[in-house]
Amino acid sequence: MTLKGINKILFGGDYNPEQWDKSIIDEDIKLFKKAGIDIVTLNVFAWAMLQKSEDEYDFSFLDYTMDKMRQNDIKVCLATSTAAHPAWMAKKYPDILRTDFYGRKRKFGLRHNSCPNSQTYRKYSAELAGRLAERYKDYDNLVMWHISNEYGGECYCENCEKEFRRWLKAKYKTLDALNKSWNTFFWGHTFYDWDEIVLPNILSEHSDENSTAFEGITLDYRRFNSDSMLSCFNIEAKEIKKHTPDIPITTNLMGFYKTLDYQKWAKSMDFISWDNYPFADTPFEEVAMSHELMRSLLKKPFSLMEQTPSVTNWQDYNPLKRPGVMRLLSYQAIAHGADTVMYFQLRRSRGACEKMHGAVIDHVGSSQTRVFKECAELGGELKALGDTFLGADTKSKVGLLFDWDNWWATELCAGPTKLKDYKAGATRYYKALNNLNISTDIISVEDNLSDYKLIIAPMLYMIKDGFSKKLKKFVSGGGTLITTYMSGMTDCSGLVTTLGYPGELRELLGVWVEETDALMPFCENTIITKDFGTYPAYILCDVLHAEGAKAIAKYGKEFYADTPVITKNHFGKGCAYYVATSSNYEFYNNFLEKICKELKISPVMKTPYGVEATKRFKGKNEFTFLLNHTGAVQSVVLDKSYRCILKNKTFEAGHAVSLNPYDVMIITPVKDKAKRS
Ligand code: GLA
Ligand code: ZN
Repeated sequence: MTLKGINKILFGGDYNPEQWDKSIIDEDIKLFKKAGIDIVTLNVFAWAMLQKSEDEYDFSFLDYTMDKMRQNDIKVCLATSTAAHPAWMAKKYPDILRTDFYGRKRKFGLRHNSCPNSQTYRKYSAELAGRLAERYKDYDNLVMWHISNEYGGECYCENCEKEFRRWLKAKYKTLDALNKSWNTFFWGHTFYDWDEIVLPNILSEHSDENSTAFEGITLDYRRFNSDSMLSCFNIEAKEIKKHTPDIPITTNLMGFYKTLDYQKWAKSMDFISWDNYPFADTPFEEVAMSHELMRSLLKKPFSLMEQTPSVTNWQDYNPLKRPGVMRLLSYQAIAHGADTVMYFQLRRSRGACEKMHGAVIDHVGSSQTRVFKECAELGGELKALGDTFLGADTKSKVGLLFDWDNWWATELCAGPTKLKDYKAGATRYYKALNNLNISTDIISVEDNLSDYKLIIAPMLYMIKDGFSKKLKKFVSGGGTLITTYMSGMTDCSGLVTTLGYPGELRELLGVWVEETDALMPFCENTIITKDFGTYPAYILCDVLHAEGAKAIAKYGKEFYADTPVITKNHFGKGCAYYVATSSNYEFYNNFLEKICKELKISPVMKTPYGVEATKRFKGKNEFTFLLNHTGAVQSVVLDKSYRCILKNKTFEAGHAVSLNPYDVMIITPVKDKAKRS
C-alpha cells in the first residue's frame, strides 16, 4: 500500500467523537500528539447523524472534526458509515432489513444489518458515499477510504431469493444445466421453473448451518451472498472514485472469515486492511497466518486497521494484554507486511455494548494510564523508524493454497467425518512452517505458481477448471507439490469425479485412493516412515494404491497396515507428495523441515520455539524481525553480523542476543566493518 506523501508507518485508529461531544476533540488532539498518533478513522457509524431523514443531510459535526484534523496535521481514513442504517430508514423501507437463516425478518437493531440486495440500501449507501467524497475531496489530509465496516453475515429475504435466481440464471443459463450441477435427481428435487428455487436455509435444505442436503445449492448461495456484499462495496467505491480517483479504498477484513471470499474481494480493493482480535490463548502462529493471508491477497503491504490496545469486551473472558504484548502484536503485524498500526478505538465510549472495550484514551481521559503510556511509547518508536521499512516486500518460496470454495465445499460435504476442518488442515502445515521460520504466502488458485518452489494444498477437494493442468505444469517444470486426503474429489459444484480419487490429480500424484477410513475420535493409526520416525495418524486415513508413486511411509495398523500413507511421485522435473492422513506437530515439523532442506528453502533464522523470525526487503536492505511470544527470556544465535535498529547496537556473527519476555528486535545485516557503529 503506497500512500502519497506518507513517509512513516501510520499510527492511530477509530475515533468516534460524535459519541461524545465536540468539546472533547481539542483535548483528544493534545493526547494524540502526545502519543504520536497521526491518523484517525472517522465516521464509521454515523449514518443516522449524517442523514436525519430522506432528504435532510447534516455534515456539520463531521465538517468540524475534519477541519480540526486538518488544522492539526492529522491524517484521516474516512469511513462511509454504511455498516449500520438509520432507524428512520428501516421504518420507512423495511426491505432494508435482513431475514436470518431461520427465516426471521429482523427489526431495526444491531449493526451490519442491511440486506445487501435491498434497493433502498444500495441507493442510499451509494448516495452517502458520493456526498462524502464530493464534500471532502479537497482535504489533503484525507489519505484513505474505508467503505462500510467488517462486511459479513447473510440474508435470506425474498428480495435476496429473487436476486439469487437471477444470479443462477446468469451462471447456468438453463435449468437443465443447473439440475445436473446440483444433482437434483437425488430425492426428486428437479426444478422445472426458476421460481421453484428457494434459498437454502433451515426452512428448506438445511438441518443446521453446515448441514445441507444439496451441497450445490448451498455452495452457490454462499458465492452469491459474498458477491452481493461485494457489489455493495463496489457501488460505493464507484461513487467515491468519481470525486477522489487517487485516494485508495479499502474495507476492513477479518482474517480468515468464512462467509466472504476475500480472494475475490481483493480484486476490487486498492489495498487490504484488517482487524486483528486474537483471544488471549490464540496461538501466535494463527495470528501470523492471518497476516500472511492479508498480505498475500494483493501481494502488497496491508494495513492493520484495528486491534485493541488493551482488552476487548465481547469475548467470554477479556484479560488485559500484558505489558509489552500490544507492542509485540503491533510489530508482528509489521513483520508480516503491515504498513499501519491502528486501534479500535482511540477514546473509550461511555455507553452501549462497547463501553468496556479498551481504548488508547480511557474514560478518565488521562495520559497517565499504563495503556496510554505503552501506546505513546510505540508511537515514538514508529516515528523514529520513519520510512525504514515502509512498503517493504516479503519474499516466499512456499505457497500454501487456501481457497474459499474448497473451505465451503469440504465443510458442506456430508461425511466422511465431522472432524474434517479445512482451515485446521491448512493451519497444521502453516504452524510448522512458521515454527521453522520459513516465509510462506497464502495463495489462491489464480496465483502464479511459478513464483514458488513448494506448493502445499491441503484438502484440495474441489478442482477448479484448469487447475489440475496448472499444477501439472508447475510440478513438471520442477516444482514440488504436497497435497492430502480429500483431494481431487469433485468439480466446482461438488459433483464427485468418476476418474477414481484423486480424480484429475491421479496421474500427477501417482496414486489411486480406493477408500477412506474416518477414525473415531479416540482412535489413531500410525505413520511409519523410512527415515524420519513414527507418528500418529488422526481423523482420516485414505487406503490407497501407489500407481507409480513411491511409498515413503506406511500405516502401522488396521487391515491396511503396511500400505502407503505418504507417497512421492516424480513427475517431469518435479515431484508430488500425497499425505493420506493428518498427524501431530512433530510430524509436520520434521516432514516440512526435510522437504525444505532438500529444496534449499532456508529459514529466516533458527530460533527457539516461541520466537518468530520474519524478513522484509526494501531496495538493497533487508530487515529481520525477531518476536518473542513467550513470557520468558529467549536467546537467538545470530547467523551473521547485524545492527539492531531500535537500539542502534551492533552484534557480531555467532553472538547470542537475548530477548526479554514479549520483546521485539529488528536487525539488519552489517556488510562491512567501516559501517558499524
Ligand atoms: C470490530 C469493529 C469495531 C468494533 C470492534 C470491537 O472490529 O470493526 O467497530 O466493534 O470490533 O472489538
Ligand atoms: Zn436480503
